[in-house]
Amino acid sequence: MSQDLAAETAARIEQLKKERDAVVLAHYYVPAEVQAVADYVGDSFALAKLAVDLPQKVLVIAGVEFMGESMKLLNPAKTVLMPEPAAGCPMAHMVREQTIADARATYGDDVAVVCYVNSTAHAKSLSDVCVTSSNAVPVVRALPQHHILFIPDQNLGRYVAEQVPQKHIILNDGCCPFHNAIAAGEVASLKEAHPAAKVLAHPECTREVLELADCIGSTAEIIAYAAENAADEFIVVTMEGVAAELARRCGAGKRFWFVHDSSCPEMDKITLERVRACLEDMSGAVELPDEATCTRAAAALTRMLEVSGR
Ligand code: 13P
Ligand code: SF4
Repeated sequence: MSQDLAAETAARIEQLKKERDAVVLAHYYVPAEVQAVADYVGDSFALAKLAVDLPQKVLVIAGVEFMGESMKLLNPAKTVLMPEPAAGCPMAHMVREQTIADARATYGDDVAVVCYVNSTAHAKSLSDVCVTSSNAVPVVRALPQHHILFIPDQNLGRYVAEQVPQKHIILNDGCCPFHNAIAAGEVASLKEAHPAAKVLAHPECTREVLELADCIGSTAEIIAYAAENAADEFIVVTMEGVAAELARRCGAGKRFWFVHDSSCPEMDKITLERVRACLEDMSGAVELPDEATCTRAAAALTRMLEVSGR
């Protein structure tokens, strides 16, 4: 898209927001020009918290399917639009119902099913509480149950297990294909090339990658660390979408190195033109499953907000 057309599209989006009483929320991974038209940009936890506080009637969520679904679960009376409904997180579907049934049959009341928000509404409905990458450790620590079935992300689950050794954490075999594919060898090579750089990694990465990190955190935590830390070079081991906010928060004085090919192809599907089109014709409304599933899934999300003291 040419610069002129991008500016024209952005101006039309601003006009449509007013006409439709709409607000645009974007995840840090979506393309920079989409982040630029958003009223709020954040990590999954920030976006979930915002969902319950906003006065506008229409919420446009520039992110993947589970984010739109969570927003609608927490806000059933509002219209939640997804600019690109086909943008989905593959990990969201990596949970088998039988795994949950088996854990409940084995451990009874002493197991909690903890569901990363990168999951379907159905998986959330079978869970006791949701978590995001920024609150998984404190939420798990606060649960009364000793046994924790952590779904769907095995890498985040393993990281939580290391941080909360007093709990017995049962892992599920899901993962983010893009974070999981990042090779520790490549991170080690970047470290060798830039010895003064701090390594910032998302907990969806493998244990071998996390062992090389100075900071492990959600997208927002990675950005905050880079903005606040005195170092002026950082190796960023997550999806490249965060570069836009890193530039906004850190200015030109700091340098960032990314592993190759690290963008989320699902988040990349969300374009400025799709944001305009969904507001223009009010398309991409999030639809939820049956009421019983939604009630249970919303309860798991609400419990997360309560436990993590929103
Ligand atoms: P954050 O919760 O850190 O924003 O991460 C969401 C995500 O999809 C990471 O791949
Ligand atoms: Fe899902 Fe991975 Fe994309 Fe995050 S980066 S939305 S976990 S596919």
